[in-house]
Amino acid sequence: CGIVGYVGPRQSQAILLAGLSRLEYRGYDSAGIAVIDVDGDLGMRKRAGKLGVLRDDLALAPLPDGTTGIGHTRWATHGGPTDANAHPHLADDDKLAVIHNGIIENFSEIKAELVAQGYTFRSETDTEVAAVLLGREYQTHGDDLVAAFRAVVQRLDGAFTLLAMHEDQPGLVVGARRNSPLVIGLGEGENFLASDVAAFVEHTRHALAIGQDEIVAITPEGVSVTDFAGNPVEVEPFEVLWDAAAADKGGWPSFMAKEVSEEPEAVANTLRGRIRDGQIVIPELDGLDELFASINRVIVIACGTAAYAGMVGKYALEQWTRVPVDVELAHEFRYRDPVIGPDTLVVSISQSGETMDTLMAVKYARDRGARTLSICNTQGATIPRESDAIVYTHAGPEVAVASTKAFLAQITALYLLALHVARVRGSLSADEARLQVLELEAIPAKISRILELEQSRIEQLAYWMADTRSVLFLGRHVGYPIALEGALKLKEISYIHAEGFAAGELKHGPIALIEPGQPVFVIVPSPRESALLHSKVVSNIQEIRARGARVIAVAEEGDVAVLPFADEVLRIPLADPLFEPLLAVVPLHIFAMGLATAKGLDVDQPRNLAKSVTVE
Ligand code: G6P
Repeated sequence: CGIVGYVGPRQSQAILLAGLSRLEYRGYDSAGIAVIDVDGDLGMRKRAGKLGVLRDDLALAPLPDGTTGIGHTRWATHGGPTDANAHPHLADDDKLAVIHNGIIENFSEIKAELVAQGYTFRSETDTEVAAVLLGREYQTHGDDLVAAFRAVVQRLDGAFTLLAMHEDQPGLVVGARRNSPLVIGLGEGENFLASDVAAFVEHTRHALAIGQDEIVAITPEGVSVTDFAGNPVEVEPFEVLWDAAAADKGGWPSFMAKEVSEEPEAVANTLRGRIRDGQIVIPELDGLDELFASINRVIVIACGTAAYAGMVGKYALEQWTRVPVDVELAHEFRYRDPVIGPDTLVVSISQSGETMDTLMAVKYARDRGARTLSICNTQGATIPRESDAIVYTHAGPEVAVASTKAFLAQITALYLLALHVARVRGSLSADEARLQVLELEAIPAKISRILELEQSRIEQLAYWMADTRSVLFLGRHVGYPIALEGALKLKEISYIHAEGFAAGELKHGPIALIEPGQPVFVIVPSPRESALLHSKVVSNIQEIRARGARVIAVAEEGDVAVLPFADEVLRIPLADPLFEPLLAVVPLHIFAMGLATAKGLDVDQPRNLAKSVTVE
């Protein structure tokens, strides 16, 4: 869910709605705002549906305006996406409003206690329990909202960001954070609270990161941060490195279209400043040589697209560093009994840095004595703060729910990390490393070439395939995770059944799915670099072709061997095999986007998904 709070001299409704629209990627099945108006009355409006429904509703019947307010956009957990379950939730005779992100695990126990005391509820949410409890505590704490809030958060188990305000205390918004994100935006005579800096970056780029289990109170004049017991704590200031324009569509029909167009820059910006005289220099990793020299195992953990980036990275990490690498879904890693210790480096990958499954896995690894390194695209996010080391990807803000440019930046960062570790361990000769760096530096221009030469043709193909009901993707070696990513992207945004397979696995089962006309994308490895692998994939193409499949090959420019067997060939420029994923995925991103667009779907906000899933 996305959360925003404002106190200051300005009318808050427009600020809250603009902030929510920048947070909508966090969930969009309902939205609501509450405002304390000039007469000191608390007004509230909330609606099921996307933010537009709330906005239209407010345009027809505005709330009286006021300068203190909170807003919320929801991704449903407890209770379906209805008006009643939307946030804010009110308590204390509708004088108190609360919004929440996360899950309160012990809510039924607290609810039973409150029901027994005669309190009533209007929704099925865990959040309303926190609101009603806060109402009760406000009474018992002599109308001291911060003290009441402190008493409430001490009772709650689970993950939460909570924001609250009371009409008797205009000019005050209090917030708390446990495992879910919350940042402070520092303005002049005004202050903000939000799940993500995107919500306030158009007003201020000065931000403060709040730590775990901390409570913050903002007024127009200042902010105070304490721990849950009320002791003051130090907070870490940071500057947001991008401006509001970076998080705008900038004339593109969708954020996804803009973000795919930025794939060359995402790679180039992740490399920028990290290559000097043909050598990798990652200042963030200074002082960690001993660690990299001593590890005997790497485990990469992530979810969704980020996990596929990890799978690609495994090939480079193992080839260059000779350290064994496992890649595992974070939520699977967390709930088994993995063999880890001080010699294990656990590398987490997360665009948002807030994915709860990944965060919990990082903490688990750390508690078990492993060393942790985070690859992340969001400054000040929770996962990097909980890790021993960070390598930021510099893809810029990614807004579309399905990840595109961040995926390329993640692979790039893994390559940089692999080359760095290889240098420390002496597992790659200086000449060899230099060659790889040159290859890497050439990638952005090659991606641009695909966008230039192939984009409109791929979009046309997607248009003609708009009523396809199922698409398969095949790849080998580094092409395998790309097949998985191609399938994931397609199912996420076009709701078409799509599966990715290792091409060699085809004959062990998936080939039964092939019937005449079945579209199959095949990622074809370079014939120059690995003739054997290439010939194996061409054989796989023949096997499916013989059974009537419609083959769309993603192949290197000049590879003519695929021509007789493919119905369509999408071309990518020549590259070293390890770098091919950064090229081969681009046509697949364009295809998924083209097909969803042809079906008239919202590519930025696909149904049921959220970009940053902050619950386990
Ligand atoms: C969600 C998104 C995916 C994303 C995954 C991991 O499920 O819908 O697109 O790949 O989270 O997100 P992260 O922010 O951790 O990279």
